[in-house]
Amino acid sequence: MAALRLIGIAGSFNRPSKTYALVQDVADRAAQRYGFDRTVYDLHDVGPSLGPALWRKDLDDQAKGVIDAIVSADVLVIGSPTYKGSYPGLFKHLIDLIDPHELRAKPIIITATGGGDRHALMVEHQLRPLFGFFMSHTLPTALYASDRDFADYKVSSEPLSKRISEVVSELAAFFPVANPVLAAAE
Ligand SMILES: Cc1cc2nc3c(=O)[nH]c(=O)nc-3n(C[C@H](O)[C@H](O)[C@H](O)COP(=O)(O)O)c2cc1C
Repeated sequence: MAALRLIGIAGSFNRPSKTYALVQDVADRAAQRYGFDRTVYDLHDVGPSLGPALWRKDLDDQAKGVIDAIVSADVLVIGSPTYKGSYPGLFKHLIDLIDPHELRAKPIIITATGGGDRHALMVEHQLRPLFGFFMSHTLPTALYASDRDFADYKVSSEPLSKRISEVVSELAAFFPVANPVLAAAE
């Protein structure tokens, strides 16, 4: 049987990127526990055809490939940097090119990063309603990380690491029998 697929998408152009680091960390830990085959993309991976595209058909093959991976994933890890208290416009534009039915009932871990703690609720007030529109299953624990949760673009804080473990555990509601040996060893 083919492995279940986890796709991570970090809505940042920065390389290195804290958002990418957070999504990668979550993806690695979920893959370790449930045996997912995982790939993480950022907006560079989507490429330059995204900005001017009015419709999905206007995208080049590179960008179409990323959207195809998103909509066919068994589980998504979404990460967004916080721009002016919300998600960046180009990240929203990527999501706008997905049809409403394509993310229906899909389990999604929602994550965001910001410079400080002031906009920590952006995961609840911006990202969760966005995927509520798609009728996705956003996992109960949302992750928000600020600059001090990272060292050298790696997750370094214990409280954040604990919340990552919590949301990874919550995936068991969707993948209860996946890799029980690995789960027991964690
Ligand atoms: C245009 C712009 C707007 C930003 N607005 C906010 C903001 O409203 N709140 C906040 O906490 N951080 C804000 N930041 C900081 C970024 O959210 C933060 O540095 C983020 O972790 C960057 O993620 P990245 O390293 O993945 O690109 C802003 C940064 C930029 C470039």
